[in-house]
Amino acid sequence: MQTLIGENGYKGLKGKRVLITGASSGIGAGMARVLAREGARLVLHYNRNAEGIERTMQSLRDYDGQAQMLRCDFRQLDRLESFFKQAWSIYEGLDALVNNAGIVTKTTALNDPFGEQFSDTLKVNLQAPYQLSTAFAQACISAGQSGAIVNNTSIHGQATCEWFSAYAASKAGLDAMTKVQAVEWGRHGIRVNGLAPGVVPVERTQTILSEAKMQQKWHDQMPLGRYGTTEEMGEATAFLLSDACNWMTGSILTMDGGLIARGNYPGRE
Ligand SMILES: NC(=O)c1ccc[n+]([C@@H]2O[C@H](COP(=O)([O-])OP(=O)(O)OC[C@H]3O[C@@H](n4cnc5c(N)ncnc54)[C@H](OP(=O)(O)O)[C@@H]3O)[C@@H](O)[C@H]2O)c1
Repeated sequence: MQTLIGENGYKGLKGKRVLITGASSGIGAGMARVLAREGARLVLHYNRNAEGIERTMQSLRDYDGQAQMLRCDFRQLDRLESFFKQAWSIYEGLDALVNNAGIVTKTTALNDPFGEQFSDTLKVNLQAPYQLSTAFAQACISAGQSGAIVNNTSIHGQATCEWFSAYAASKAGLDAMTKVQAVEWGRHGIRVNGLAPGVVPVERTQTILSEAKMQQKWHDQMPLGRYGTTEEMGEATAFLLSDACNWMTGSILTMDGGLIARGNYPGRE
């Protein structure tokens, strides 16, 4: 794996106890690899993809770090409390929480008139992070320790398009929640930041995003001319959790190859 940092790594990550949700594939697996490389001790959450989480665990073998896996369906909101307690108990505490698990729902309001998909999306993408972050903050405050949270949001929280009302609402909500919780918990030494990825091919989207026509369409829109990688999202997460960001809270770090900055302006020669 390409390493983007110097020998000393990101300040303060070694030995940190980090819960990453949704680590069975895609961006969560990339985050796990980078944080493991940095010497963090990991609790890796998954839901249905048991093979995927095994693959993530295997991919950490090169690093000496520790990792444990834990299952939970975040649509079952009443299970989150015991899930969090289990996660907290593995290393007798946690230093950081990465709310990464999410579902990408594509539907229009006219196709979902009673909002079943809308409601499911908000449960997994917004309510679950709300409950997990709150449980994490309460536990940190009781233990008299500081903590850091990274919420994996999306550029859809900032600019969006057809089909994404549920998804964009959940991510805009997550952006807002990031800011409010940062304000509420700053005095307890708990930092809350968001990472807003652009288009990052993952197992779920690899086939469609590899199509030449699709690649051309997206690459042309991005000033940096390519998709992002799961490892790059891991690097950004490591940065946000590290001591380099000790004075950063309530921010949303956009990593999208410049897509949002460019907007819809027509190209000029
Ligand atoms: N890829 C992108 O281009 C992109 C861009 C912006 C933001 N994001 C965000 O990045 C995060 C990860 O997505 P990804 O693209 O890496 O996709 P992914 O590979 O499909 O990962 C989604 C993860 O969320 C978990 N998950 C889904 N439903 C769940 C539920 N009901 N309960 C608990 N966990 C659940 C999945 O667990 P199981 O598979 O084990 O069930 C999986 O680990 C999401 O929050 C997504 O919105 C992705």
